[in-house]
Amino acid sequence: VPSGYDLWLGYGKIENVELLRQYEQAATSIYFQNNSEILEAAQKELKRGLGSMLDRAVDFTDSFSTANSMVIAKKAGLDKAIMKSVAADLDRIGKEGFVIKSVQLKDKDILVISANEDIGILYGVFRLLRFMQGHKTLSSISLVDAPKIAIRMLNHWDNLDRTVEHGYAGFSLWNWQKLPEYIDRRYIDYARANASIGINAVSLTNVNANALILTPMYLEKVRALAEAFRPYGIKVYLTARFSAPIEIGGLRSADPLNAEVQQWWNDKAEEIYAQIPDFGGFLVKANSEGQPGPQNYGRNHVDGANMMARALQPFDGKVIWRAFVYSEHDADDRAKQAYSEFVPYDGQFMENVLVQTKNGAIDFQPREPFHPMFGAMPNTPLMMEFQITQEYLGFSTHLVFLPKLFEEVLDADTYLKGKGSTVAKVIDGSLHDKKMTGMAGVANIGTDLNWTGHPFAQANWYGFGRLAWDPYLSSETIADEWIRATFSNDPKFVGPVRKMLLTSREAVVNYMNPLGLHHIFDTGHHYGPGPWVSELSRPEWNPTYYHKADEYGIGFDRTPTGSNATEQYAEPLRSMLNDPKTCPEEYLLWFHHLPWDYTLRNGHTLWDGIALKYQEGVDQVQDMRTTWKNMEPYISKAQHEEVWMLLEIQLKEARWWRDACLLYFQTYSKKELPEGVEKPT
Ligand code: GCU
Repeated sequence: VPSGYDLWLGYGKIENVELLRQYEQAATSIYFQNNSEILEAAQKELKRGLGSMLDRAVDFTDSFSTANSMVIAKKAGLDKAIMKSVAADLDRIGKEGFVIKSVQLKDKDILVISANEDIGILYGVFRLLRFMQGHKTLSSISLVDAPKIAIRMLNHWDNLDRTVEHGYAGFSLWNWQKLPEYIDRRYIDYARANASIGINAVSLTNVNANALILTPMYLEKVRALAEAFRPYGIKVYLTARFSAPIEIGGLRSADPLNAEVQQWWNDKAEEIYAQIPDFGGFLVKANSEGQPGPQNYGRNHVDGANMMARALQPFDGKVIWRAFVYSEHDADDRAKQAYSEFVPYDGQFMENVLVQTKNGAIDFQPREPFHPMFGAMPNTPLMMEFQITQEYLGFSTHLVFLPKLFEEVLDADTYLKGKGSTVAKVIDGSLHDKKMTGMAGVANIGTDLNWTGHPFAQANWYGFGRLAWDPYLSSETIADEWIRATFSNDPKFVGPVRKMLLTSREAVVNYMNPLGLHHIFDTGHHYGPGPWVSELSRPEWNPTYYHKADEYGIGFDRTPTGSNATEQYAEPLRSMLNDPKTCPEEYLLWFHHLPWDYTLRNGHTLWDGIALKYQEGVDQVQDMRTTWKNMEPYISKAQHEEVWMLLEIQLKEARWWRDACLLYFQTYSKKELPEGVEKPT
């Protein structure tokens, strides 16, 4: 029974005779220069991947000869003749990049994988294996690639009791009770999966942090995890609770300007680095949703972040300071708050501080306009925070391909330095010439047999990693790679399933939050619909605060006649958003409060348009089901059945969303459902 445990690293046997002959040929004699733990990991992976795809044991030689069919070595270990063919490539790929090239030597083709550093070899090996998993031909292969973003990171929201905040795939992978002695096999497989897509950093613990993780008892466990991940090029970070000096340090204050507090953090950093010399640094959620922070002492984000940055600086550690802040005191529009609180501090953070900003200004909705902070802090490295776990997207029950969402945000134009100033260019540092860059994804991984709950949620982990490596990749390419590596190369499978993945994101927007509606989820868990919820103590926790439906119409006016949040966007985008006629309709009700009979671009009234979108979402899930039904011949019965059952639930719940939202909004619109929309049963 296929469990999904192998993820996209199943390395299925190559059946195509032509390809098999070609790959066999390349694997006849492999020179592999192996003299470090990272290279050891790379060699093991190649042995495993080739062995499984070719269905035979694969060996290596550690002496170079012209009889080699494959040569894997760093720049320093390359034969002169080979070196000539790859020298120019090696010069432009930095520390983590790689070259995979078919090089002619004495009338013979040799497949070369080279890099400047060990980690580049590891990434190159994974890339070659994926290339083969996609059944691509090796003849005249020439791949030269390097990551465009420096910190490519997973954020686990894992608690020390192994529950996971908004985790829908079982419990936390980190078995604190058995650590440090017991190294679960899963730690290694987790690291392999990450390295295969270029993820090089993980924060182990929940942003709603527990200070205990910084005590000696836990630090030795963290050290064991760091050691397990190191051969895969992965650095460990921890979340640091701002009040830790009080909770575990016995101090009376956590004031960042207090000398004792500063000393406590300096000592803590020293203690951590003594155990974990390549420790990444701290991820901090401060003064947000009740978490302690510098504002508790009348200080600001800069005071807080720089205090920790000073402690980590001697060890080259980073502070990743989150910008997800909002409070009830400034509740006219939560969407404006992070920008107002952070942009004035641009340029004041220390050099080893990154500010981590969610992709949108509210909270990981199925669709949000990009966060106006992107591009607005030219003197501060801004790190992207995406959510891979599907808090507002149907948990691990609904099939939603998130790279489509990530791509939409990365491609969005901020116009901050004229047309073409995309979010991707802010994140990769090219817009403001930054070296320190990062992208984080809140992990969707847990102890479930298949790691992510929904088998297709693996694609979101995969896709996040690929985009953190190269934010210009298309979601279509990512879908294609993942399907081939995970399931099948049969074009009759790949084509329809790719299409299904690519429409799944729009489907969920349609049946949950069409036309710019947002945050109308039931409270706390954020699973099903709850647009009627209005009695929560803080105004900005209530869905009614976001949709503002009344007898006149629906939507949140964020133009100058309303909260004026559009002011935070640059021209000409701002004016475009301010006018409902030019505002992209997918954001219409995000920025405008419009009458029920407002005319949409397709001629429908707003009410009819909303209803038809909800119906379209349901229809799209129907189509996904039909597609999947036809895929039965291409995969195992168990694999097919599992996704089929999930799609059944998704369809039922898409209808639930449609019916619940339309019945509720209808109490205001007082209009009939248009033709084509199924009546609620
Ligand atoms: C959301 C989520 C919280 C999380 C918070 C954050 O509000 O529901 O569980 O802690 O985001 O990102 O800090």
